[in-house]
Amino acid sequence: MKRLLLLSIFSVLLLSAVLNFAVDVGIVLPTNAEPRWVQDETRFRDALKNTKYSVEILFSQGLPAKERENVEALIAKGIKVLILCPHDAVAASAAAELAKKAGVYVISYDRLIMGTDAVDYYVTFDSVEVGRAMGRFLVQNVKAGTKGNPLYLYAGALSDNNAFLFFQGAWEILQPKIADGTFRIINSSEAIKVQSKKNLTRDEMAKIIGQVTTNWDFNVAKRKAEDDLTRAKAADKGTVYILAPNDGTARAIADAFRADKDVKAYFITGQDAEKASVQYIIDGKQSMTVFKDVRLLVKDAINAAQLLLEGKKPTTTATYDNGKKKVPAIQSEIQVVTKDNVKKLLIESGYYSEKDFKW
Ligand code: BGC
Repeated sequence: MKRLLLLSIFSVLLLSAVLNFAVDVGIVLPTNAEPRWVQDETRFRDALKNTKYSVEILFSQGLPAKERENVEALIAKGIKVLILCPHDAVAASAAAELAKKAGVYVISYDRLIMGTDAVDYYVTFDSVEVGRAMGRFLVQNVKAGTKGNPLYLYAGALSDNNAFLFFQGAWEILQPKIADGTFRIINSSEAIKVQSKKNLTRDEMAKIIGQVTTNWDFNVAKRKAEDDLTRAKAADKGTVYILAPNDGTARAIADAFRADKDVKAYFITGQDAEKASVQYIIDGKQSMTVFKDVRLLVKDAINAAQLLLEGKKPTTTATYDNGKKKVPAIQSEIQVVTKDNVKKLLIESGYYSEKDFKW
């Protein structure tokens, strides 16, 4: 009798421990070494205060092996939904397939997991539009009628499908202005080779990106910009136009260009509205950023996860081809931030607080 009692107490304790540790939704983000993904973590934590589901957030530190380990750990904790932002789009397919095999729904977050049908949904910003916004900004800032304006191209990591989408959007807008002589590409022989083509194949883009990649790394970006400036002639400087793929790399590239005495003025793009770049914009050191309101992305991802946990289907508005599947996508809009509208878009919207910056 006593033994039976002890056994049932033990079972109850064990069950409650298991229930306590059970996690409903697992979130895996690429790295916390970049402010962009720390922003996502913070916004997830804010949004999750109001849900009844248990959620765990892990970072992969830019390592596919760590990413896989994270996914395995979450599967072992019983997750039903995995929200994964891959470090390496192709390598992540193995982790997604593990999750799928374990009966877990897989949501690709911000970056698309490539080459597998194990992805159920994709929650993203309109990334081609991000590139177009960058291209448009550079075109709008050219003095009407001028020709041969120096254009420096930089891109994200080849392992990130978004790097292609951003470049594709930017090229769509910039190419006609390269073809008519408004811009002159300075730092990419691969881009010069195809400068008369409006629509590039993935291979053609891969060659350009391979040449001008920052690998999403500030140090690589800075070194690349310095090398380009060392190679460039004085005539390739003066007032220059720089396609920088995101805020972290934009600050690094802008620092290199500012340090060159032959660069008189520059227009440089960015994205993510990172705090440091917002300060750069206020100070006139970065020209624009594409604001991707992470609150929207987080809300969409959590909504989708909750619907799936309740046996319902999220509504999708687009599809993205990952090479194996046309993945149904939930897409958020983007906004362009410059010195003129920074207060309105980032402070008045409650995204950041005014006291975070020196005005
Ligand atoms: C994201 C950007 C980010 C970049 C580097 C991209 O996939 O969409 O917001 O700046 O990765 O982490």
